[in-house]
Amino acid sequence: MSDTLTMDTIDPRTMRDCCGRFATGVTVITTRTPEGDHGMTVSAFMSVSLDPPLICISVGNRSKMLPKIQASGRYAVNVLSETMRDHALHFAGRTNEGLTDLFRDQHGLPVLQDAGAVLVADLVQQVETGDHVLLIGHVRHLDSDPAAKPLVFHAGQFGGVVA
Ligand SMILES: Cc1cc2nc3c(=O)[nH]c(=O)nc-3n(C[C@H](O)[C@H](O)[C@H](O)COP(=O)(O)O)c2cc1C
Repeated sequence: MSDTLTMDTIDPRTMRDCCGRFATGVTVITTRTPEGDHGMTVSAFMSVSLDPPLICISVGNRSKMLPKIQASGRYAVNVLSETMRDHALHFAGRTNEGLTDLFRDQHGLPVLQDAGAVLVADLVQQVETGDHVLLIGHVRHLDSDPAAKPLVFHAGQFGGVVA
């Protein structure tokens, strides 16, 4: 490997750059509170258990999303399709006024139109760790489009999967 770093303290930028070499899909997490619907782009999503069906997302402890999920006790994971790069940026704080009619209702939560897959979960466990909180959810409903092609995030860039 060309870049080998051994340090007593690892700065956040170096940590992010190194972990960013791990290619992920991209999701938008959505939830609903009395104040309204909220979405946030998250790549830190994983499936945890099949039986029972558990998933996990890692959400920054300074995000607006964290207290909203804690209040609602529920969240939806919307897996973005290759064509949804604008959605990823919009829900990461770069508001795009051109995106309208974003949500439809599914089991009492807002979910994204055209998502490649949607998982609706009840929050069952929280793990506070560093500057993030792991939110473990029990999946109650799911839906997926087998033909959807995924949006991929790698080294700070969006891309797709080449067959
Ligand atoms: C591709 C991508 C992936 C991201 N993944 C995460 C993540 O896994 N966890 C997280 O806390 N923030 C993640 N972010 C940053 C949040 O989307 C961003 O801070 C957002 O504005 C927070 O929203 P909120 O404070 O309105 O809830 C990601 C951003 C991008 C563009």
